[in-house]
Amino acid sequence: MSEPALLDVKCLVAGYGNKTVLHDVSFQVMPGKVLTLLGHNGCGKTTTLKAILGLNDRAKGEVWLGGRRVDQEPVSARVAQGLRLLPEGRGIFATLTIGENLDVVADRNCRVPDSRIGVQEVLKLFPALAGRLSTLAGSLSGGQQQMLALGLALLGSPRCILLDEPSIGLAPNLVERLFDMVREVCRSAGVGAVLVEQNVSASMKIADHVTILNNGAVVFDGSPDEARESNFWHFF
Ligand SMILES: Nc1ncnc2c1ncn2[C@@H]1O[C@H](COP(=O)(O)OP(=O)(O)OP(=O)(O)O)[C@@H](O)[C@H]1O
Ligand SMILES: [Mg+2]
Repeated sequence: MSEPALLDVKCLVAGYGNKTVLHDVSFQVMPGKVLTLLGHNGCGKTTTLKAILGLNDRAKGEVWLGGRRVDQEPVSARVAQGLRLLPEGRGIFATLTIGENLDVVADRNCRVPDSRIGVQEVLKLFPALAGRLSTLAGSLSGGQQQMLALGLALLGSPRCILLDEPSIGLAPNLVERLFDMVREVCRSAGVGAVLVEQNVSASMKIADHVTILNNGAVVFDGSPDEARESNFWHFF
């Protein structure tokens, strides 16, 4: 029998006002695996991530997390069950220090009984942050802010992290380090990830599965090797 999916997105439809952006988008993320979601600008990648978390009020379709249907639940309940979004442009509190950022999010996410990743675990993963706990987050470099954003997304008991273009503004060596960390966290903790990226070559290095969107519809869903062989690879 095949392993059950960690995240199962079924026939997701979403949009803004009277404009439908996503048309029956379906894909699955397996535990410990990275799904790379690719597609041209404006094809609906961010909308997909937002709809999965409950941030698109026109969303229809089904979202299952760990065998439980969550699409009727509010964002806070989905986060409590381990869905996390690392938004485009970084989800940090710029006017708080690194330490305060970690404490605020830990206070919200680490209260659950099965909380696995606390502030100390995050600081072990990102030692560069540990020595700068009283530095204002807004004064960090782009790469450091991205590390902090990933650290915040990992606090508590993450089960599936949705990363929206985390490599933007990062030097190539930092992109590689960040992606290695994403893969390591996924493999070691059985966490799943949906990675939206413009940096196709870097994201393909950690992809276990590839889904390609075009005009809000899935046009390819398969392994990285199959993606490279597919008719849609010339998009990139
Ligand atoms: N808040 C909004 N209100 C109205 N239309 C929106 C809104 N956000 C996105 N859209 C539209 O929805 C479509 C999909 O946008 P989305 O941001 O999901 O694309 P994307 O694939 O993430 O693009 P990019 O690669 O540029 O980040 C686009 O046509 C965009 O103009
Ligand atoms: Mg986007």
